[in-house]
Amino acid sequence: MQQWVNGTVIEKIRWNEWLFSLRIDADVEEFSAGQFTKVALDLDGERVSRPYSYVNAPHERPIEIYFNTVPEGPLSNQLAAAAPGDTLWVNPQPNGLLTLDEMPPSDHLWMLCTGTGLGPFLSILKTDAPWDRFKRVVLVQAVRYAKDLAYAESIQSIVERRNGQMTFVPFVSREPTDFALTGRIPAAIADGRLEERAGLGLSAENSHVMLCGNSLMIQDTLQVLGKRGMRRHRRREPGHISMEKYH
Ligand SMILES: Cc1cc2nc3c(=O)[nH]c(=O)nc-3n(C[C@H](O)[C@H](O)[C@H](O)COP(=O)(O)OP(=O)(O)OC[C@H]3O[C@@H](n4cnc5c(N)ncnc54)[C@H](O)[C@@H]3O)c2cc1C
Ligand SMILES: NC(=O)c1ccc[n+]([C@@H]2O[C@H](COP(=O)([O-])OP(=O)(O)OC[C@H]3O[C@@H](n4cnc5c(N)ncnc54)[C@H](OP(=O)(O)O)[C@@H]3O)[C@@H](O)[C@H]2O)c1
Repeated sequence: MQQWVNGTVIEKIRWNEWLFSLRIDADVEEFSAGQFTKVALDLDGERVSRPYSYVNAPHERPIEIYFNTVPEGPLSNQLAAAAPGDTLWVNPQPNGLLTLDEMPPSDHLWMLCTGTGLGPFLSILKTDAPWDRFKRVVLVQAVRYAKDLAYAESIQSIVERRNGQMTFVPFVSREPTDFALTGRIPAAIADGRLEERAGLGLSAENSHVMLCGNSLMIQDTLQVLGKRGMRRHRRREPGHISMEKYH
């Protein structure tokens, strides 16, 4: 039977028309950076729940989720309409394997996301583990428009704090900018643009790749990395790629 605790919205961040974060006061169990919870609202007498990654690090409170509204989506639009003081339901038990504990050792960690798939990576990057474990960490955030590049200040402050150990690569696919790569992640791996921008090679010998967000991006990236001899990591069959599909 699903367990729920009461959560109270402390703060809502509206990044743009369709991107939001909620900071929520809720008494949840300990979790590992990269895991997700479930959030629910009672809508027309039915409890409607969906999974959302923790954006906050395990030591940080309140808890935080980052999401986009989906046209006709039952929960995301109601969450976007929430205001400070409103209550919702939170599953206290964490879930998910997109955590560093699950990753085999390697020199370099590549975190590739589309859209709100950034969330679990921020949680991980706010802990000490990636900096103790990897020589270099590359965070790649792919969005449609420049105004979808949420959490820019948080990312910049991690880059500055980690002084050379962390590289940030933004992709903006649907408008030109003077700072981001254009196009899509898999194509930029295939033609070498991503490695050139990061100043780092991506190979089965030295890299572990985490993928989060759009399942088509994940599918296409798996295919491109497969050509480099990189395969999905599983507990029983160690590999080089870990993933979480949002939609
Ligand atoms: C393990 C896991 C973790 C997740 N974590 C997050 C998170 O941290 N942030 C987040 O924004 N979403 C996350 N999602 C998706 C989220 O759970 C909801 O599906 C989403 O918020 C839409 O909810 P909804 O009730 O409005 O629509 P739904 O009924 O859930 O979906 C309606 C339609 O929209 C599609 N869809 C779902 N999510 C998206 C999306 N983000 N973009 C485009 N289409 C989508 C679905 O495939 C479906 O076709 C996660 C999903 C999974 C499986
Ligand atoms: N961001 C917006 O402008 C916007 C506006 C209104 C509503 N929304 C809502 O938000 C939802 C999610 O938006 P989102 O911007 O996060 O969606 P998204 O479609 O996942 O796009 C995010 C990034 O992923 C890229 N991508 C898509 N398919 C890919 C693939 N197969 N391989 C590699 N990269 C791929 C996109 O590139 P491409 O641009 O090349 O597809 C884009 O750069 C939408 O479905 C919609 O419901 C978004």
